[in-house]
Amino acid sequence: MKIGIIGAGFVGRAIGKLAVRSGHQVMLSNSRGPQTLFSLRHAVGGEVGTVDEAVAFGDVVVVAIPLSAYRSVPVAPLAGKIVIDTDNYYHERDGRIAELDSGATTTSELLAGHLPQSRIVKAFNAITMTDLESGGRPSGASDRRALPVAGDDADAKAVAVALYDQFGFDAVDVGALSEGWRFERGRPAYCVPFNKADLQKVLAATVRDGQLTS
Ligand SMILES: NC(=O)c1ccc[n+]([C@@H]2O[C@H](COP(=O)([O-])OP(=O)(O)OC[C@H]3O[C@@H](n4cnc5c(N)ncnc54)[C@H](OP(=O)(O)O)[C@@H]3O)[C@@H](O)[C@H]2O)c1
Repeated sequence: MKIGIIGAGFVGRAIGKLAVRSGHQVMLSNSRGPQTLFSLRHAVGGEVGTVDEAVAFGDVVVVAIPLSAYRSVPVAPLAGKIVIDTDNYYHERDGRIAELDSGATTTSELLAGHLPQSRIVKAFNAITMTDLESGGRPSGASDRRALPVAGDDADAKAVAVALYDQFGFDAVDVGALSEGWRFERGRPAYCVPFNKADLQKVLAATVRDGQLTS
């Protein structure tokens, strides 16, 4: 599979590296241009390009940028494409976003509103990249960690679940994209390791109000 990645920080690099290791082709990008990513070609093992080039390259495109920049993601070239949203809301970094502070929407629904023709799946946001790179275990291992996924498009979710598996993780499907709040920042499942059975329980028991960190 060809995976274009918007953002070449901790998330873009970690997912890029693991995807290359799993046999995928990867192109990383950032806002400053591929000349600023020269050394990453060797570190990650993929190509580098502009955001537009990465979007055109990918059958699947990963968004891995500060949430505050989501409106800069190209809209028309992503129509019909599967987009994996890894972003989280940190008001300390992103500024206050009223709809998120009030609980009126979720981070991935913001991106979906910006990309109405794209097939968005929320994944890879509830694990640190250190854990993603070091925590993978073979399928069936007793200590295999599970990661949550949410989305409205079955094919998009299947792609995220397959990547989880290739990277060494089980998946728990929480349902529609609007259910993504269950594993946003501050929720019990956020960046906490659980096996599949325990993650299912924790996600099901999560309540929407009153559990977010400030
Ligand atoms: N770090 C983690 O362990 C982790 C885990 C799960 C989810 N997340 C979430 O994933 C997202 C990325 O996190 P990160 O830790 O990878 O951040 P990061 O290390 O700061 O990297 C962000 C990357 O996005 C690029 N970027 C910024 N604005 C851009 C734009 N408008 N267009 C294209 N590229 C842009 C930056 O490069 P330029 O500034 O040069 O463009 C940089 O390469 C965040 O929303 C974060 O909350 C992080």
